[in-house]
Amino acid sequence: MPITYNEAAKSFKLTAKDTSYIMQVAPGGYLAHTYYGKALPDDDLTYLLRLEEPPFTPEKNLRELSSYMDCLPLEYPCFGIGDYREHAFSIVDGNGATAADLRYSSHRIYDGKPALEGLPATFANAPSEAQTLEITLEDKPAQLEVTLIYTAFTDLDVITRSLTVKNTGTDNVQLTRVYSACVDFDTDELDMITVNGSWARERHPERSPLHRGKQSVDSVKGESSHQSNPFTALCTHNADEDTGEVFGFNFVYSGNFLSEAEVTQFGRTRYVMGINSTDFGWLLGPGEIFTAPEVVMVYSDSGLGKMSRTFHDLYRNNLIRGEYRDKRRPILINNWEATYFNFNTEKLIQIAEQASKLGIEMLVMDDGWFGHRDSDNSSLGDWFVYEKKLEGGLKALVEKVNSFGMKFGIWFEPEMISPDSELYKEHPDWAIQIKGRPLTMSREQYVLDYSRKEVRDHIYGMMRKILDNANIEYIKWDMNRQITEPASNWLPKERQREIWHRYVLGVYDLMNRLTTDYPHILLENCSGGGARFDPGMLYFSPQIWCSDDTDAIERLKIQYGTSLCYPCSSMGAHVSDCPNHTVGRQTPFETRGHVAMVGTFGYELDVTKIPQEDRDAIPGQIEEFKKFNPLVRTGDHYRIGNVFEDDEWDAWMFVAKDKSEALLEFVQVLRRPNYHSRRIKLKGLDPAAYYYEESAPDRKYSGAALMQAGITVPEPWGDFRSVLRHFIRA
Ligand code: GLA
Repeated sequence: MPITYNEAAKSFKLTAKDTSYIMQVAPGGYLAHTYYGKALPDDDLTYLLRLEEPPFTPEKNLRELSSYMDCLPLEYPCFGIGDYREHAFSIVDGNGATAADLRYSSHRIYDGKPALEGLPATFANAPSEAQTLEITLEDKPAQLEVTLIYTAFTDLDVITRSLTVKNTGTDNVQLTRVYSACVDFDTDELDMITVNGSWARERHPERSPLHRGKQSVDSVKGESSHQSNPFTALCTHNADEDTGEVFGFNFVYSGNFLSEAEVTQFGRTRYVMGINSTDFGWLLGPGEIFTAPEVVMVYSDSGLGKMSRTFHDLYRNNLIRGEYRDKRRPILINNWEATYFNFNTEKLIQIAEQASKLGIEMLVMDDGWFGHRDSDNSSLGDWFVYEKKLEGGLKALVEKVNSFGMKFGIWFEPEMISPDSELYKEHPDWAIQIKGRPLTMSREQYVLDYSRKEVRDHIYGMMRKILDNANIEYIKWDMNRQITEPASNWLPKERQREIWHRYVLGVYDLMNRLTTDYPHILLENCSGGGARFDPGMLYFSPQIWCSDDTDAIERLKIQYGTSLCYPCSSMGAHVSDCPNHTVGRQTPFETRGHVAMVGTFGYELDVTKIPQEDRDAIPGQIEEFKKFNPLVRTGDHYRIGNVFEDDEWDAWMFVAKDKSEALLEFVQVLRRPNYHSRRIKLKGLDPAAYYYEESAPDRKYSGAALMQAGITVPEPWGDFRSVLRHFIRA
């Protein structure tokens, strides 16, 4: 049984595959945390609470209750009652007071996993895949009920957490902080790993040992952001790819977040994750319920690699949905880097015709097809066809592209409004703004108030007209700026602080409508590259554009960092032209293909203009991609090289779940003079099986030799060169 309750000890034990998570109701009715880690046979670990160690003996010694509160490992700590560490929950009650005090009231255990109202979340495909524990805590004076929701997955080292807050009283209560998870560790000997960056260099991992005080990553931009990602791993100092304990946390949310570890006075660590409380507020009227987004927690006893593979399995099977979840995605060609805004019907047809002959399966028309958009300074919100550019209209263009045997995809940026647009002329108040203050411009655009249903309905109406008018089979949903002047013309004064969360809920609502009404359309999320690469978005779209930086060498870093938490099958990756538009680097066409093959694969170049040699290489590249894509989508991913530690080379593998085949990809970043070949140890194979390379079937190697002794990789001639090696079980 994944979840049990020990009545005598009042303790709860969650078992998720080889992981145990244990809590208990401590004296006073406080819910305390006793253990998180490798599976244990025990279910009562009361001794770890040190209840008999003075001065923490509240039943005997009430004069030191505050010391008890400031030390007890609380599952869901509140502000204002003596726990001075980071708290997860704070309110302003009907009397204007700020303390909250949550005590155990009841619990229930059931099979399966509940959906979260209005929010994306992981799910169980069958009730037997997971069990759920709901523990209800009560704040009697404030008349609030908080129900902590834990789900343990049977076959994955995954526990998820979320919660609801219910106002059971007659007064309004302001929620000022509602984090989704808190875990207390009885040690400060941990490292914190986060993935950080900027535009064109998203999700670069950084690791540092925890130190006294608070260390965090967060976003207050209204999206998860280029700069931070709602992912954090806490790990033992010795943890590497294959060894050591790792606790991974990921927030299934696409707006403001906080991920923070605090090392306390007693050398312990409190970790919290949730909606950022900066500028957050939520008015909870009598009878109303607030639902906090989900945190996914993954435990690994064998390093970062195992943690990543657990996240990948969970997201591929229990988060991503829709027709394309388990399918190879169409090989697309996107015209953004090929033409930017400078295209017309004829140009797109030329690209599509040439591309179709080479085996490319879909044309994606990027930004610039609507309103009167010739640069990024107009027309967002005017989702009707720019007739001057698309002479003959969209339907005719799509039909022409279809006649080449190709699908057609289209770009939208539905959350935005340009000051130079019909929409803004009609509805200037639909932009997020503070009355009487100037609006801060970014990329010459403003953000629409998605907290407002009327706004979403209007935008969706325009999108539907486009989608119903032509055979559109793919949408790139972009979001190219952050929120400023956070206020809504629609919300009353006392609800203004809800704008951040209501905005995200509004985006989810529209994505939900879109994916329900158009289940055949493949949705790809994007946000100025990868500013919204988070599990919230993965719930709606099986793939997300990883970064505007398409340089193969820069992508080694971006895709490495992204793979810590997100499956390779979800990473939007294209072969683009050289010199690369972001860094001016020249890399071989073959290497660009091999690096893009790690992700969804496609092209982002003017296929009519690239060198003939590159054009000639495309059919072969496509064949190679098709051959290996099932392994990439369904296999286990192993990182072997690490360009952040050694920037001369990189390597990674995809291994079939049944270990019958494996693909090694090696990239030599810089060629070294006068060295022998590199020796590389493979991973994830069956040590007892024998393998041969497809290119040399007569030579057999044991899996043990390939993993413990390794193989030799002759260094290719030149920089930025890549090699694929395919191993098959004999
Ligand atoms: C963002 C995206 C790009 C492209 C442009 C269009 O930057 O990341 O891929 O779609 O917008 O304006």
